[in-house]
Amino acid sequence: MTQTPVRTAIFPVAGLGTRFLPATKATPKELLPVLDTPLIQYAIDEAREAGIERMVFVSHPSKSAIERHVMDDVHLRNTLKERGKVELASDLKDAALRAPEDDVVFTMQHEPLGLGHAVLCAKDHVLPGAVAVILPDDLILGRGCIGELIEAYQSMDCGHLVATMPVAAEETDKYGILSVTDRTGNVLRANGMVEKPAAADAPSRDAVVGRYVLDASIFETLTTQAPGAGNEIQLTDAINTGAESVGLGGLRFSGQRFDCGNKAGMLQAVLHIAAQDPEYKDVLDAFVLQGQAPIAA
Ligand code: G1P
Repeated sequence: MTQTPVRTAIFPVAGLGTRFLPATKATPKELLPVLDTPLIQYAIDEAREAGIERMVFVSHPSKSAIERHVMDDVHLRNTLKERGKVELASDLKDAALRAPEDDVVFTMQHEPLGLGHAVLCAKDHVLPGAVAVILPDDLILGRGCIGELIEAYQSMDCGHLVATMPVAAEETDKYGILSVTDRTGNVLRANGMVEKPAAADAPSRDAVVGRYVLDASIFETLTTQAPGAGNEIQLTDAINTGAESVGLGGLRFSGQRFDCGNKAGMLQAVLHIAAQDPEYKDVLDAFVLQGQAPIAA
């Protein structure tokens, strides 16, 4: 079976970022840098690499800085060029999105009613067919996860496909967990999904991370989806509903994931990236040799 192409990526970026306060009081969490590159930039680059045509950002009026980062700033680039910083200006141009070449939509989620509600806010802005959803605070390095998911989706006969990874029993209450019916290599089949179950209630230890390819019926399902865990409209619950009607699969992705929605994960990501950069490796080595701190592998 060949699926229709996945043309739209939805980026839910309206969240309050409470886990990073006070850093996120005035700065959206999606703009927190992993060394020097904001999380949202990694997500955009991943979508671009996957051939996504339209990017829909579901934001909040208080987070207008996201749009300022995402979109091209000709004035800033010209100022940099005037000051001889031509390479920096060129790097900024490459990273940015700009109209009319790029198809970009910003829409607002005014109330924090949950991830499912955020995705529903994108309903009127997506291109026909299945959609990709990317949660920028799940930083996935290595092979582009959404591209890997879209590629697998083309040859699978499930409507919804999610990125998964195994987690420890005590971690199931932090993730959506799949109810797995079959495993073949890195591909899983599931007949349901539960949001953040306690270990004793978890149907498996196959957790869902923030990359999804969802059948377009997800919007219809979300329209009538009752609030679930945390009294929020959960994307997990809508996917669970669709598991029966359109089918649900999971893909154990090959990249390395960092949970940059919390401080420990963000620190690991910064150290990981710094350790691979010759410019910072010496700084890290010297720091460790002085016995000041252990560095995660
Ligand atoms: C969200 C989803 C959850 C998923 C997780 C991945 O939770 O609701 O199903 O496993 O992202 O990071 P959040 O971490 O936003 O609370």
